[in-house]
Amino acid sequence: MSASRYVLAIDQGTTSTRSILFDDSATPVVSAQKEFPQYYPQPGWVEQDPEDIWRDALDTARQVLAQSGVDAGQVAGIGIANQRETVVLWDRASGEPVYKAIVWQDRRTASLCANLKAAGHEAAVRAKTGLLLDPYFSATKLAWILDNVEGVRDRAEKGELAFGTVDCFLLWRLTGGKFHATDVTNAGRTLLYDIRAQRWDEELCALFNVPMALLPQVHDNSYIYGMTDPELLGASIPVAGMAGDQQAALFGQACFEPNMAKSTYGTGCFMLLNTGDQALESEHRLLTTPAYRLNGQMTYALEGSIFIAGAAIKWLRDGIGVITHARETNDMATQVSDSHGVYMVPAFVGLGAPHWDPDARGAIFGLTLGTTQAHLARAALEAVGYQTLDLIDAMVADGSKTPATLRVDGGMTANDWLCQFLADLLQTVVERPRHLETTALGVAFHAGLATGVWPDLAALARTWQPRDSFAPRMDGEHRAQLIAGWQEALAKTLSAK
Ligand code: G3P
Repeated sequence: MSASRYVLAIDQGTTSTRSILFDDSATPVVSAQKEFPQYYPQPGWVEQDPEDIWRDALDTARQVLAQSGVDAGQVAGIGIANQRETVVLWDRASGEPVYKAIVWQDRRTASLCANLKAAGHEAAVRAKTGLLLDPYFSATKLAWILDNVEGVRDRAEKGELAFGTVDCFLLWRLTGGKFHATDVTNAGRTLLYDIRAQRWDEELCALFNVPMALLPQVHDNSYIYGMTDPELLGASIPVAGMAGDQQAALFGQACFEPNMAKSTYGTGCFMLLNTGDQALESEHRLLTTPAYRLNGQMTYALEGSIFIAGAAIKWLRDGIGVITHARETNDMATQVSDSHGVYMVPAFVGLGAPHWDPDARGAIFGLTLGTTQAHLARAALEAVGYQTLDLIDAMVADGSKTPATLRVDGGMTANDWLCQFLADLLQTVVERPRHLETTALGVAFHAGLATGVWPDLAALARTWQPRDSFAPRMDGEHRAQLIAGWQEALAKTLSAK
Protein backbone atom coordinates (compact mmCIF):
# COMPACT_ATOMS: atom_id res chain seq x y z
CA MET A 1 0.00 0.00 0.00
CA SER A 2 1.43 3.34 -0.96
CA ALA A 3 -0.86 5.52 1.16
CA SER A 4 0.45 5.96 4.66
CA ARG A 5 -2.75 7.01 6.38
CA TYR A 6 -6.14 5.37 6.39
CA VAL A 7 -9.54 6.13 7.80
CA LEU A 8 -12.03 3.42 8.73
CA ALA A 9 -15.71 4.24 8.25
CA ILE A 10 -18.49 2.21 9.86
CA ASP A 11 -21.82 2.82 8.12
CA GLN A 12 -24.54 1.29 10.28
CA GLY A 13 -27.67 1.45 8.09
CA THR A 14 -31.24 0.27 8.56
CA THR A 15 -30.85 -3.14 6.97
CA SER A 16 -27.10 -3.67 6.81
CA THR A 17 -23.84 -2.68 8.43
CA ARG A 18 -20.72 -2.05 6.43
CA SER A 19 -17.18 -1.00 7.11
CA ILE A 20 -15.02 0.65 4.48
CA LEU A 21 -11.35 1.50 4.71
CA PHE A 22 -10.40 4.67 2.81
CA ASP A 23 -6.90 5.79 1.93
CA ASP A 24 -5.82 9.42 2.08
CA SER A 25 -6.91 10.04 -1.51
CA ALA A 26 -10.48 9.24 -0.36
CA THR A 27 -10.47 6.01 -2.35
CA PRO A 28 -12.12 2.95 -0.79
CA VAL A 29 -9.56 0.19 -0.30
CA VAL A 30 -11.60 -2.69 1.10
CA SER A 31 -15.17 -3.01 2.29
CA ALA A 32 -17.26 -5.62 4.10
CA GLN A 33 -21.02 -5.70 4.60
CA LYS A 34 -23.58 -7.77 6.51
CA GLU A 35 -27.38 -7.70 6.45
CA PHE A 36 -29.04 -8.26 9.82
CA PRO A 37 -32.51 -9.37 10.98
CA GLN A 38 -35.47 -7.03 11.34
CA TYR A 39 -38.32 -7.83 13.70
CA TYR A 40 -41.94 -6.86 13.02
CA PRO A 41 -43.70 -7.97 16.23
CA GLN A 42 -46.96 -6.13 15.38
CA PRO A 43 -48.22 -4.24 12.32
CA GLY A 44 -46.37 -0.92 12.17
CA TRP A 45 -43.69 -1.98 14.68
CA VAL A 46 -40.05 -2.36 13.60
CA GLU A 47 -37.32 -3.55 15.97
CA GLN A 48 -33.69 -4.65 15.76
CA ASP A 49 -31.36 -6.36 18.19
CA PRO A 50 -28.63 -3.94 19.33
CA GLU A 51 -26.33 -6.95 19.81
CA ASP A 52 -26.64 -7.75 16.06
CA ILE A 53 -25.74 -4.17 15.29
CA TRP A 54 -22.70 -4.25 17.55
CA ARG A 55 -21.52 -7.70 16.38
CA ASP A 56 -21.72 -6.74 12.69
CA ALA A 57 -20.00 -3.39 13.21
CA LEU A 58 -17.12 -5.10 14.96
CA ASP A 59 -16.95 -8.06 12.57
CA THR A 60 -16.98 -5.95 9.41
CA ALA A 61 -14.36 -3.57 10.86
CA ARG A 62 -12.12 -6.53 11.72
CA GLN A 63 -12.74 -8.04 8.29
CA VAL A 64 -11.63 -4.95 6.35
CA LEU A 65 -8.49 -4.60 8.45
CA ALA A 66 -7.64 -8.27 7.91
CA GLN A 67 -8.37 -8.22 4.16
CA SER A 68 -6.52 -4.99 3.47
CA GLY A 69 -3.40 -6.05 5.31
CA VAL A 70 -3.42 -2.59 6.91
CA ASP A 71 -2.20 -2.62 10.48
CA ALA A 72 -4.67 -1.07 12.96
CA GLY A 73 -1.87 1.30 13.98
CA GLN A 74 -1.95 2.83 10.48
CA VAL A 75 -5.59 3.86 10.88
CA ALA A 76 -5.67 7.55 11.77
CA GLY A 77 -9.29 7.50 12.91
CA ILE A 78 -12.67 5.81 12.83
CA GLY A 79 -15.86 7.49 11.64
CA ILE A 80 -19.34 6.23 12.50
CA ALA A 81 -22.37 6.99 10.33
CA ASN A 82 -25.71 5.56 11.42
CA GLN A 83 -29.37 5.08 10.70
CA ARG A 84 -30.78 8.04 12.56
CA GLU A 85 -33.54 8.32 15.21
CA THR A 86 -33.40 4.60 16.11
CA VAL A 87 -33.40 4.33 19.90
CA VAL A 88 -31.19 2.18 22.15
CA LEU A 89 -31.41 2.25 25.93
CA TRP A 90 -28.81 0.35 27.93
CA ASP A 91 -27.50 -0.27 31.41
CA ARG A 92 -24.42 1.83 32.19
CA ALA A 93 -22.88 -0.84 34.43
CA SER A 94 -23.34 -3.94 32.27
CA GLY A 95 -23.63 -2.28 28.82
CA GLU A 96 -26.68 -4.46 28.15
CA PRO A 97 -29.67 -3.02 26.30
CA VAL A 98 -32.91 -3.05 28.30
CA TYR A 99 -35.06 -3.57 25.20
CA LYS A 100 -34.64 -4.08 21.46
CA ALA A 101 -33.73 -1.03 19.37
CA ILE A 102 -36.93 0.72 18.22
CA VAL A 103 -36.29 1.62 14.61
CA TRP A 104 -37.00 5.00 12.98
CA GLN A 105 -39.67 3.33 10.79
CA ASP A 106 -41.66 2.15 13.83
CA ARG A 107 -45.13 3.73 14.13
CA ARG A 108 -46.19 2.50 17.60
CA THR A 109 -46.22 6.01 19.02
CA ALA A 110 -48.52 7.50 16.37
CA SER A 111 -51.34 8.08 18.84
CA LEU A 112 -49.03 9.66 21.42
CA CYS A 113 -47.84 12.07 18.70
CA ALA A 114 -51.43 12.77 17.64
CA ASN A 115 -52.38 13.57 21.27
CA LEU A 116 -49.45 15.96 21.69
CA LYS A 117 -50.39 17.62 18.42
CA ALA A 118 -54.04 17.92 19.45
CA ALA A 119 -52.89 19.51 22.71
CA GLY A 120 -51.23 22.23 20.62
CA HIS A 121 -47.55 21.39 21.19
CA GLU A 122 -46.37 21.11 17.60
CA ALA A 123 -45.49 24.77 16.95
CA ALA A 124 -43.26 25.04 20.02
CA VAL A 125 -41.58 21.70 19.32
CA ARG A 126 -40.99 22.72 15.73
CA ALA A 127 -39.53 26.10 16.68
CA LYS A 128 -36.86 24.49 18.85
CA THR A 129 -36.12 21.26 17.01
CA GLY A 130 -36.95 21.97 13.34
CA LEU A 131 -38.92 18.68 13.42
CA LEU A 132 -42.60 17.69 13.62
CA LEU A 133 -44.63 15.57 16.01
CA ASP A 134 -44.25 12.31 14.15
CA PRO A 135 -43.34 8.85 15.48
CA TYR A 136 -40.31 8.92 13.13
CA PHE A 137 -38.21 10.80 15.71
CA SER A 138 -36.61 9.36 18.85
CA ALA A 139 -38.35 10.99 21.84
CA THR A 140 -41.67 9.16 21.78
CA LYS A 141 -39.96 5.82 21.14
CA LEU A 142 -37.72 6.41 24.15
CA ALA A 143 -40.77 7.37 26.23
CA TRP A 144 -42.47 4.16 25.09
CA ILE A 145 -39.61 2.01 26.44
CA LEU A 146 -39.59 3.97 29.70
CA ASP A 147 -43.33 3.44 30.14
CA ASN A 148 -43.68 -0.12 28.88
CA VAL A 149 -40.65 -2.09 30.03
CA GLU A 150 -40.91 -3.00 33.68
CA GLY A 151 -38.64 -1.16 36.08
CA VAL A 152 -36.96 0.89 33.38
CA ARG A 153 -38.28 4.33 34.30
CA ASP A 154 -37.17 3.84 37.87
CA ARG A 155 -33.67 2.78 36.79
CA ALA A 156 -33.51 5.71 34.35
CA GLU A 157 -34.39 8.19 37.09
CA LYS A 158 -31.66 6.75 39.32
CA GLY A 159 -29.11 7.42 36.52
CA GLU A 160 -28.43 3.72 35.91
CA LEU A 161 -29.30 3.80 32.20
CA ALA A 162 -27.97 5.52 29.08
CA PHE A 163 -29.92 6.51 25.96
CA GLY A 164 -28.37 6.86 22.56
CA THR A 165 -28.95 6.64 18.85
CA VAL A 166 -26.91 3.90 17.17
CA ASP A 167 -23.75 6.05 16.77
CA CYS A 168 -23.74 6.63 20.52
CA PHE A 169 -24.28 2.96 21.36
CA LEU A 170 -21.43 1.91 19.04
CA LEU A 171 -19.12 4.56 20.54
CA TRP A 172 -19.94 3.23 24.00
CA ARG A 173 -19.14 -0.33 22.98
CA LEU A 174 -16.00 0.57 20.96
CA THR A 175 -14.54 2.52 23.84
CA GLY A 176 -15.30 -0.17 26.40
CA GLY A 177 -18.10 1.88 28.01
CA LYS A 178 -15.89 4.92 28.62
CA PHE A 179 -17.70 7.50 26.48
CA HIS A 180 -21.36 8.40 26.26
CA ALA A 181 -21.55 10.98 23.49
CA THR A 182 -23.25 11.81 20.21
CA ASP A 183 -22.97 14.52 17.58
CA VAL A 184 -25.23 17.45 16.66
CA THR A 185 -26.81 15.76 13.64
CA ASN A 186 -28.01 12.79 15.68
CA ALA A 187 -29.01 14.89 18.70
CA GLY A 188 -30.97 17.06 16.28
CA ARG A 189 -33.26 14.14 15.39
CA THR A 190 -34.41 13.26 18.90
CA LEU A 191 -37.04 16.02 19.47
CA LEU A 192 -35.14 16.81 22.70
CA TYR A 193 -32.40 19.06 21.30
CA ASP A 194 -32.71 22.78 20.57
CA ILE A 195 -30.89 23.10 17.24
CA ARG A 196 -30.37 26.86 17.50
CA ALA A 197 -29.32 27.10 21.16
CA GLN A 198 -27.43 23.82 20.58
CA ARG A 199 -28.29 22.12 23.86
CA TRP A 200 -30.64 19.51 25.29
CA ASP A 201 -33.83 21.32 26.20
CA GLU A 202 -35.36 20.94 29.64
CA GLU A 203 -38.91 21.80 28.52
CA LEU A 204 -38.83 19.26 25.70
CA CYS A 205 -37.52 16.58 28.04
CA ALA A 206 -40.39 17.41 30.42
CA LEU A 207 -42.93 17.30 27.57
CA PHE A 208 -41.82 13.82 26.49
CA ASN A 209 -41.20 12.75 30.08
CA VAL A 210 -37.55 11.84 29.47
CA PRO A 211 -35.13 12.10 32.42
CA MET A 212 -32.15 14.24 31.40
CA ALA A 213 -29.79 11.84 33.21
CA LEU A 214 -30.19 9.52 30.21
CA LEU A 215 -28.76 11.92 27.65
CA PRO A 216 -25.28 11.81 26.08
CA GLN A 217 -22.86 14.72 25.62
CA VAL A 218 -23.10 16.39 22.22
CA HIS A 219 -20.04 17.28 20.13
CA ASP A 220 -18.96 18.55 16.69
CA ASN A 221 -18.95 16.01 13.86
CA SER A 222 -15.16 16.12 13.51
CA TYR A 223 -14.00 15.50 17.05
CA ILE A 224 -11.97 12.96 18.98
CA TYR A 225 -14.81 11.24 20.81
CA GLY A 226 -12.64 8.64 22.53
CA MET A 227 -10.11 5.86 21.93
CA THR A 228 -11.19 2.33 21.09
CA ASP A 229 -10.48 -0.47 23.52
CA PRO A 230 -7.20 -1.91 22.12
CA GLU A 231 -8.50 -5.47 22.56
CA LEU A 232 -11.16 -4.95 19.91
CA LEU A 233 -9.28 -4.01 16.74
CA GLY A 234 -5.66 -4.60 17.62
CA ALA A 235 -4.79 -1.00 18.55
CA SER A 236 -6.31 1.94 20.31
CA ILE A 237 -7.77 4.06 17.48
CA PRO A 238 -9.49 7.43 17.93
CA VAL A 239 -13.19 7.54 17.09
CA ALA A 240 -12.83 10.90 15.38
CA GLY A 241 -16.05 11.46 13.44
CA MET A 242 -19.73 10.74 13.95
CA ALA A 243 -22.77 11.82 11.94
CA GLY A 244 -26.25 10.65 11.05
CA ASP A 245 -26.01 8.82 7.75
CA GLN A 246 -27.90 11.37 5.67
CA GLN A 247 -25.87 14.30 6.92
CA ALA A 248 -22.75 12.18 6.36
CA ALA A 249 -23.82 11.65 2.73
CA LEU A 250 -24.29 15.42 2.26
CA PHE A 251 -20.72 15.86 3.54
CA GLY A 252 -19.40 12.98 1.42
CA GLN A 253 -20.99 14.58 -1.65
CA ALA A 254 -18.97 17.72 -0.80
CA CYS A 255 -22.13 19.85 -0.64
CA PHE A 256 -20.37 22.50 1.41
CA GLU A 257 -22.00 25.59 -0.12
CA PRO A 258 -25.55 26.90 0.40
CA ASN A 259 -28.05 25.61 -2.17
CA MET A 260 -26.05 22.46 -2.92
CA ALA A 261 -28.22 19.34 -2.53
CA LYS A 262 -27.91 15.60 -2.44
CA SER A 263 -30.43 12.79 -2.41
CA THR A 264 -29.55 9.36 -1.03
CA TYR A 265 -31.49 6.27 -2.08
CA GLY A 266 -31.05 3.61 0.58
CA THR A 267 -33.83 2.04 2.61
CA GLY A 268 -35.56 5.39 2.37
CA CYS A 269 -34.71 8.48 0.38
CA PHE A 270 -33.45 11.60 2.06
CA MET A 271 -32.81 14.85 0.23
CA LEU A 272 -30.79 17.50 2.04
CA LEU A 273 -30.20 21.06 0.86
CA ASN A 274 -27.36 23.01 2.48
CA THR A 275 -28.69 26.32 3.87
CA GLY A 276 -25.41 27.58 5.38
CA ASP A 277 -25.56 29.15 8.83
CA GLN A 278 -29.33 29.76 8.48
CA ALA A 279 -31.73 27.35 10.15
CA LEU A 280 -34.55 28.06 7.68
CA GLU A 281 -38.10 27.31 8.76
CA SER A 282 -40.04 25.39 6.16
CA GLU A 283 -43.65 26.30 5.47
CA HIS A 284 -44.15 23.10 3.52
CA ARG A 285 -43.42 20.54 6.19
CA LEU A 286 -39.78 19.89 5.44
CA LEU A 287 -37.39 19.48 8.34
CA THR A 288 -34.76 21.92 9.52
CA THR A 289 -31.76 19.96 10.64
CA PRO A 290 -28.09 20.36 11.56
CA ALA A 291 -25.97 19.37 8.52
CA TYR A 292 -22.61 19.46 10.31
CA ARG A 293 -20.77 21.39 13.00
CA LEU A 294 -17.06 22.02 12.64
CA ASN A 295 -15.05 23.95 15.25
CA GLY A 296 -18.31 24.96 16.93
CA GLN A 297 -19.69 26.49 13.71
CA MET A 298 -23.05 25.03 12.68
CA THR A 299 -24.19 24.52 9.08
CA TYR A 300 -27.88 23.70 8.64
CA ALA A 301 -29.92 21.92 5.99
CA LEU A 302 -33.50 21.60 4.86
CA GLU A 303 -34.44 17.95 4.62
CA GLY A 304 -37.12 15.98 2.84
CA SER A 305 -37.47 12.47 4.26
CA ILE A 306 -39.13 9.67 2.31
CA PHE A 307 -39.43 6.50 4.36
CA ILE A 308 -39.51 3.91 1.59
CA ALA A 309 -37.24 3.78 -1.48
CA GLY A 310 -34.98 0.70 -1.64
CA ALA A 311 -37.28 -0.90 0.95
CA ALA A 312 -39.95 -1.22 -1.77
CA ILE A 313 -37.48 -3.17 -3.91
CA LYS A 314 -36.58 -5.30 -0.89
CA TRP A 315 -40.32 -5.96 -0.46
CA LEU A 316 -40.62 -7.02 -4.11
CA ARG A 317 -37.80 -9.47 -3.42
CA ASP A 318 -38.49 -10.72 0.13
CA GLY A 319 -42.18 -9.94 0.59
CA ILE A 320 -43.79 -11.10 -2.65
CA GLY A 321 -40.93 -12.72 -4.60
CA VAL A 322 -41.39 -10.66 -7.79
CA ILE A 323 -37.60 -10.41 -8.19
CA THR A 324 -34.68 -12.41 -6.86
CA HIS A 325 -32.14 -9.61 -6.84
CA ALA A 326 -32.50 -5.82 -6.63
CA ARG A 327 -30.29 -5.28 -9.68
CA GLU A 328 -32.87 -7.03 -11.91
CA THR A 329 -35.13 -3.99 -11.62
CA ASN A 330 -32.97 -1.98 -14.03
CA ASP A 331 -33.59 -4.48 -16.86
CA MET A 332 -37.21 -5.02 -15.88
CA ALA A 333 -37.91 -1.28 -16.02
CA THR A 334 -36.43 -1.02 -19.51
CA GLN A 335 -38.18 -4.16 -20.81
CA VAL A 336 -41.51 -2.32 -20.79
CA SER A 337 -42.27 1.03 -22.37
CA ASP A 338 -44.21 2.28 -19.35
CA SER A 339 -45.77 1.04 -16.10
CA HIS A 340 -49.00 0.17 -17.94
CA GLY A 341 -50.89 2.65 -15.79
CA VAL A 342 -49.71 1.05 -12.54
CA TYR A 343 -48.81 3.38 -9.64
CA MET A 344 -47.35 2.17 -6.38
CA VAL A 345 -47.64 4.47 -3.37
CA PRO A 346 -45.15 2.88 -0.96
CA ALA A 347 -46.71 4.07 2.30
CA PHE A 348 -45.68 0.81 4.02
CA VAL A 349 -44.80 2.70 7.20
CA GLY A 350 -46.95 5.77 6.60
CA LEU A 351 -45.74 8.72 4.57
CA GLY A 352 -42.99 11.17 5.51
CA ALA A 353 -42.34 14.57 3.93
CA PRO A 354 -44.18 16.56 2.88
CA HIS A 355 -47.37 14.69 3.94
CA TRP A 356 -46.46 13.31 7.40
CA ASP A 357 -49.26 10.79 7.46
CA PRO A 358 -48.33 7.96 9.87
CA ASP A 359 -51.67 6.20 9.30
CA ALA A 360 -51.45 5.89 5.51
CA ARG A 361 -50.57 2.41 4.22
CA GLY A 362 -49.12 1.22 0.92
CA ALA A 363 -51.29 0.86 -2.17
CA ILE A 364 -51.00 -0.23 -5.78
CA PHE A 365 -53.40 1.28 -8.33
CA GLY A 366 -54.24 0.47 -11.92
CA LEU A 367 -53.80 -3.32 -11.89
CA THR A 368 -55.23 -5.09 -14.93
CA LEU A 369 -54.90 -8.61 -16.34
CA GLY A 370 -52.11 -7.19 -18.49
CA THR A 371 -50.00 -6.15 -15.47
CA THR A 372 -46.69 -8.04 -15.30
CA GLN A 373 -43.87 -8.29 -12.81
CA ALA A 374 -41.92 -5.79 -14.92
CA HIS A 375 -44.72 -3.22 -14.57
CA LEU A 376 -44.69 -3.65 -10.78
CA ALA A 377 -40.92 -3.24 -10.66
CA ARG A 378 -41.14 -0.17 -12.85
CA ALA A 379 -43.94 1.32 -10.71
CA ALA A 380 -41.81 0.81 -7.57
CA LEU A 381 -38.88 2.66 -9.16
CA GLU A 382 -41.10 5.39 -10.54
CA ALA A 383 -42.57 5.99 -7.07
CA VAL A 384 -39.08 6.93 -5.89
CA GLY A 385 -38.93 9.58 -8.62
CA TYR A 386 -42.38 11.00 -7.89
CA GLN A 387 -41.67 11.25 -4.19
CA THR A 388 -38.39 13.03 -4.88
CA LEU A 389 -40.27 15.48 -7.09
CA ASP A 390 -42.71 16.18 -4.23
CA LEU A 391 -39.71 17.08 -2.05
CA ILE A 392 -38.18 19.42 -4.62
CA ASP A 393 -41.56 21.08 -5.13
CA ALA A 394 -41.82 21.65 -1.36
CA MET A 395 -38.30 23.13 -1.27
CA VAL A 396 -39.08 25.45 -4.16
CA ALA A 397 -42.39 26.47 -2.53
CA ASP A 398 -40.31 27.31 0.56
CA GLY A 399 -38.33 29.78 -1.53
CA SER A 400 -35.28 27.71 -2.49
CA LYS A 401 -34.17 27.58 -6.09
CA THR A 402 -34.29 24.18 -7.78
CA PRO A 403 -30.67 23.09 -7.35
CA ALA A 404 -28.82 23.31 -10.69
CA THR A 405 -27.67 19.74 -10.18
CA LEU A 406 -28.72 17.05 -7.78
CA ARG A 407 -25.97 14.77 -6.50
CA VAL A 408 -27.34 11.28 -5.93
CA ASP A 409 -25.96 8.26 -4.11
CA GLY A 410 -26.95 5.07 -2.33
CA GLY A 411 -27.39 1.53 -3.65
CA MET A 412 -30.39 2.29 -5.88
CA THR A 413 -28.50 4.85 -7.93
CA ALA A 414 -26.44 2.09 -9.52
CA ASN A 415 -29.65 1.83 -11.59
CA ASP A 416 -29.15 3.98 -14.74
CA TRP A 417 -32.82 3.88 -15.61
CA LEU A 418 -33.74 5.38 -12.24
CA CYS A 419 -31.15 8.18 -12.55
CA GLN A 420 -32.50 9.12 -15.99
CA PHE A 421 -36.10 9.04 -14.70
CA LEU A 422 -35.09 11.34 -11.83
CA ALA A 423 -33.48 13.82 -14.25
CA ASP A 424 -36.59 13.73 -16.45
CA LEU A 425 -39.05 14.25 -13.63
CA LEU A 426 -37.06 16.82 -11.66
CA GLN A 427 -35.98 18.72 -14.79
CA THR A 428 -32.51 19.01 -13.38
CA VAL A 429 -29.14 17.42 -14.07
CA VAL A 430 -28.55 14.37 -11.88
CA GLU A 431 -24.92 13.66 -11.04
CA ARG A 432 -23.66 10.32 -9.82
CA PRO A 433 -20.27 10.46 -8.12
CA ARG A 434 -17.21 8.30 -8.63
CA HIS A 435 -17.90 6.47 -5.38
CA LEU A 436 -21.52 5.69 -4.50
CA GLU A 437 -20.66 5.01 -0.85
CA THR A 438 -20.80 8.68 0.05
CA THR A 439 -22.29 8.07 3.50
CA ALA A 440 -19.20 6.16 4.57
CA LEU A 441 -16.98 8.66 2.77
CA GLY A 442 -18.66 11.58 4.55
CA VAL A 443 -17.95 10.24 7.96
CA ALA A 444 -14.44 9.24 6.88
CA PHE A 445 -14.01 12.91 5.90
CA HIS A 446 -15.10 13.95 9.39
CA ALA A 447 -12.70 11.53 11.06
CA GLY A 448 -9.92 12.51 8.65
CA LEU A 449 -10.39 16.24 9.34
CA ALA A 450 -10.16 15.65 13.09
CA THR A 451 -6.95 13.63 12.77
CA GLY A 452 -5.14 15.72 10.15
CA VAL A 453 -5.50 13.29 7.22
CA TRP A 454 -7.12 16.17 5.30
CA PRO A 455 -6.52 19.82 6.17
CA ASP A 456 -9.81 21.48 5.25
CA LEU A 457 -13.05 21.44 3.25
CA ALA A 458 -11.30 22.64 0.10
CA ALA A 459 -9.09 19.55 0.13
CA LEU A 460 -12.18 17.37 0.54
CA ALA A 461 -14.07 19.13 -2.27
CA ARG A 462 -11.14 18.43 -4.62
CA THR A 463 -11.58 14.69 -4.14
CA TRP A 464 -15.22 14.78 -5.34
CA GLN A 465 -15.76 13.89 -9.00
CA PRO A 466 -18.89 12.97 -10.95
CA ARG A 467 -18.74 9.66 -12.75
CA ASP A 468 -21.95 10.12 -14.75
CA SER A 469 -24.36 12.88 -15.40
CA PHE A 470 -27.98 12.52 -16.58
CA ALA A 471 -29.69 15.44 -18.34
CA PRO A 472 -33.48 15.78 -18.61
CA ARG A 473 -34.89 14.60 -21.94
CA MET A 474 -38.54 13.59 -21.38
CA ASP A 475 -41.24 15.29 -23.40
CA GLY A 476 -43.15 17.85 -21.25
CA GLU A 477 -46.63 16.54 -22.01
CA HIS A 478 -45.71 12.97 -21.15
CA ARG A 479 -44.11 14.16 -17.93
CA ALA A 480 -47.24 16.11 -16.95
CA GLN A 481 -49.44 13.04 -17.58
CA LEU A 482 -47.25 10.81 -15.43
CA ILE A 483 -47.25 13.33 -12.59
CA ALA A 484 -51.03 13.76 -12.75
CA GLY A 485 -51.45 9.98 -12.39
CA TRP A 486 -49.14 9.95 -9.37
CA GLN A 487 -51.01 12.79 -7.69
CA GLU A 488 -54.30 10.96 -8.13
CA ALA A 489 -52.87 7.75 -6.63
CA LEU A 490 -51.33 9.68 -3.76
CA ALA A 491 -54.58 11.48 -2.94
CA LYS A 492 -56.37 8.13 -2.72
CA THR A 493 -53.70 6.76 -0.35
CA LEU A 494 -53.56 9.58 2.21
CA SER A 495 -55.57 8.69 5.32
CA ALA A 496 -58.66 10.75 6.06
CA LYS A 497 -57.63 12.96 8.99
O1 G3P B 1 -33.60 8.76 9.15
C1 G3P B 1 -33.40 7.44 8.80
C2 G3P B 1 -32.19 7.29 7.93
O2 G3P B 1 -31.07 7.76 8.59
C3 G3P B 1 -32.04 5.85 7.43
O3 G3P B 1 -31.09 5.79 6.45
O4 G3P B 1 -29.65 4.71 4.81
O5 G3P B 1 -30.79 3.31 6.43
O6 G3P B 1 -32.06 4.45 4.59
P1 G3P B 1 -30.91 4.46 5.52
